[in-house]
Order: sequence, then C-alpha cells, then structure tokens
Amino acid sequence: MTKIILDCDPGHDDAVAMLLALASPELQVLGITTVYGNVGLENTTHNALAVRELARSEVPVYAGADRPLVRERISAEAVHGASGLDGPLLPSPSRGVEEGHAVQFIIDSVLASPGEVTLVPTAALTNLALAMRLEPRIVPAIKEIVVMGGSLDSGNWTPSAEFNILCDPHAAKVVFGAGVPLVMFGLNATHQTPATPERVERFRQLGTRMGEFTAQLLEFFREHHEERYGWNGAPIHDACTVAYLLRPDLFRTASYFVDVEVNEGLAYGRTVCDVWRVTGRAPNAEVALDVNVEGFYDLLVERIGRYP
Ligand code: BDR
Ligand code: CA
Repeated sequence: MTKIILDCDPGHDDAVAMLLALASPELQVLGITTVYGNVGLENTTHNALAVRELARSEVPVYAGADRPLVRERISAEAVHGASGLDGPLLPSPSRGVEEGHAVQFIIDSVLASPGEVTLVPTAALTNLALAMRLEPRIVPAIKEIVVMGGSLDSGNWTPSAEFNILCDPHAAKVVFGAGVPLVMFGLNATHQTPATPERVERFRQLGTRMGEFTAQLLEFFREHHEERYGWNGAPIHDACTVAYLLRPDLFRTASYFVDVEVNEGLAYGRTVCDVWRVTGRAPNAEVALDVNVEGFYDLLVERIGRYP
C-alpha cells in the first residue's frame, strides 16, 4: 500500500482526485492538506471537509498556507465558481480540521515513515516548499512527488504559465530543485482528459449518489471550458496524479531537466523543460506525455462506482 498525502485546493478536479484516492485500497491516504489556490484557504479547506464528508471518510484534513511565499495571491473563481466548488450541493461537514498546520503534518508524516510517503500536490506548491525549508531532513526522506502543475508547452493562465505553478513560482522552484523523484503532470498531458458529455454520462449511469455528484461536478467544470475555449468537456487535471499511482501503465512519461522561471516577465511561472537536453543538466523530473484516456475513465468510473 502506498502512503500518500494529497495537498490540494478543491477545486472540481481536486475533488475528483480526492474521491479516486479515498476509494482506492492500494493507497493509504495519511491526510489531506489544503492550500489557497483556486479560491482562498477558508473555502478550499471547507470544500475538502465537505468532500471528505461525502466520501464518509475519516482521513484527517489539515489547513496550510493562505498565501504564496513572495508574490501576491491569484485565484480562479472564474473556473471553479465563488465557492471553489460551485455546482453540486455539498454536505455540511460534521467534523472540522485537525489542530496544527499542514506543513507540520507533512514534516511529521515524512519523518515517521522515511522513504515511504508520496506527496501528491494538485495546487500551489507553497506547503511543500515551506515543509522543505522548515525541516530539510524531509527532503531525502520523501519517496516521490507526483504533481499536477506546469506544462511542457503553453500555459493556461499566461501564454507561458500554468495556474498552480504561477500561484507560487518561487515555491515551485524549491520543489522542482529539491532532488526528490518527481513526476510532473502538466497541461500537455492533462488536456488529453476532457470530461465530454458521453464520459460524464458514464458516472451518472452508475445510478449512485457519488456517480451523480461526480457528474454534476464535471458538468459545472465544463461550462467554463466551453465558454472560454469552445471545448466539449473540462480536463480532470488533478485526478491524473492519483490515477498514475494506481495505474502507471496508463501514462507515457519522459525524463527531462525542468526548472521554473521566477523572474517577472513573459515566462514568469513557466516550467522550462529541457526537451533537447541543451543544458547538460541531469533530468530531475518524469514528465507525463500521453494519457490512455479511455483507460483513465474506465478506472475513474470503476472507483467512483465503489462508493455506496
Ligand atoms: C490546475 O489549476 C486548478 O484550477 C485546477 O484545480 C488544477 O489543479 C490546472 O491548471
Ligand atoms: Ca487543483
């Protein structure tokens, strides 16, 4: 069983990633840590608690950073709605967050099981960078980081930058530069996973509470992508990370050296990937290239179908 911590800013696709992880016996979810991002920390934390409630899970939730390290905060209400999880009706959480900061929870968890904990950030990398700086002994003790962020090519928030990395480029630079085995799910891969109406219907056809919830989540998420880009469905970016841990065979990756641009300018927040190996730097990331999208949806539908 792989021990993981989900570090997230729910977020429609974060919620799907959570549900996928919590339904999967191959994974031991040690905790959910939240960070500002799509919306403010208070809302992302509330949403994580509501999704946990819906999943009838006991997993602890810890609140983390409410702002980036250096830059001013940006947010994505235009994509996820004012609450960060607009669309379906959410249950009121019956239980709150744990005491203590998410960063301390990450540190304690990694040090308690050296070499065993995989970190799965699907949001700004602020919590991870803070943990690495506060307790550098965790760096060699992290098993792996599987991150949704960046892109091999264009961004979605600026022509260069993907939202999660742009939220906190300095934190991303710390994390990518740490020397921890890292798998990057950038937009070049996650955009291969649009939740088309036919795919959404598969969740609805499950005829379950969670199938309906997932369908409604993805329907709301589609609206923005349809209006903005004319797409027939929203990519479920964040769930790719968890799916990779369950079924790495569904993805093709390549090893590249990746760095993050922190100088303000056209490329601010870009994950700069050395595809042609011109820097001579050793690869520090496995970059996802291709997704077996039908296999990805088969997995998601099967796991969402496990909820009563
Ligand atoms: C990322 O940004 C957020 O809006 C999504 O939840 C995802 O993590 C995609 O750029
Ligand atoms: Ca996210």
